[in-house]
Amino acid sequence: MVKPACPIFVVSTAKGGVGKTTVAVNFAHALARSTFMERPMRVMFIDLDAQGNATNLFSLDHETLEEHCSVHPMLEGRVATPKEQYGVLVIGHNEESMGKLQLLASTTVLVDFRRGLAATIAAHEPDVVIIDTPPTQTPSGGAALGSASHLIIPMTPTRHAFNGAKKAREYASMLGELMNTTVTVCGVVPIMTMRGKANDEIMQRAQDEFGPLLTSAIPMRIVIKEAEVVGMPLVAYEESQCAELNQDEGNFLASKKRQKYSEVGQVFDEITKQILKQVLNGQGA
Ligand SMILES: Nc1ncnc2c1ncn2[C@@H]1O[C@H](COP(=O)(O)OP(=O)(O)O)[C@@H](O)[C@H]1O
Ligand SMILES: [Mg+2]
Repeated sequence: MVKPACPIFVVSTAKGGVGKTTVAVNFAHALARSTFMERPMRVMFIDLDAQGNATNLFSLDHETLEEHCSVHPMLEGRVATPKEQYGVLVIGHNEESMGKLQLLASTTVLVDFRRGLAATIAAHEPDVVIIDTPPTQTPSGGAALGSASHLIIPMTPTRHAFNGAKKAREYASMLGELMNTTVTVCGVVPIMTMRGKANDEIMQRAQDEFGPLLTSAIPMRIVIKEAEVVGMPLVAYEESQCAELNQDEGNFLASKKRQKYSEVGQVFDEITKQILKQVLNGQGA
């Protein structure tokens, strides 16, 4: 078994619209801002979802991104050139690679992508890689899981998301066997959580199934949607909002708003800390 040069985190589940991209992008951004190392951490982000949502959340346009800065070369076993966005080395999606991705067969994508990933890691020497994925059972979802060292599973408080989380874990272990690698499940990130019995019941089931959930849940918050519409990682968006509000010091409403623009960002920081602690201690769920 070949040991990856650095931890490769894949954010995946078998369900769409459950916060994969939100978790992946903000986890990468939290790592890049973190002070876990004496120097800034080199974080590489790869958008393997043909929708290009993560590319957009890093303020890149999936319609105009240069081919060599996209995942396209990696899907052919070649080195990609990341663009630095918000301190993260981003390898995004462009229209051409999207089209190509749909046409390739799973096994080709899996083998070529692993070669392209190894070559890109060797060329750019990241400390950590984060991969965003489409729902698992697609060629690129499989390629991501077949290359991963760690799996992070976002889960909304619904039964469908719970089932999707279980499927993702099964699929990861199948691909691990196939590719002769071990994928450690870091755990489940509860996202879009709400108050109430239904939320608590399904999250308890997730805890029974997967072990401790990853620290604080990411509650349903409008600011996450606002950041998505603008196309920025959450904390970068919050900071841009605070900078505007700071021009209006002393205003009571402004100070209230400043508080609002810091709460969810801190939750991502907490989750990031916990995941890193687990990885450094070699633990998983
Ligand atoms: N905690 C949250 N509060 C409010 N909206 C959220 C939250 N998490 C995610 N969203 C929104 O839900 C939608 C789906 O999230 P996304 O991360 O794109 O899911 P996926 O990648 O699994 O398809 C997006 O519009 C995103 O902005
Ligand atoms: Mg997504």
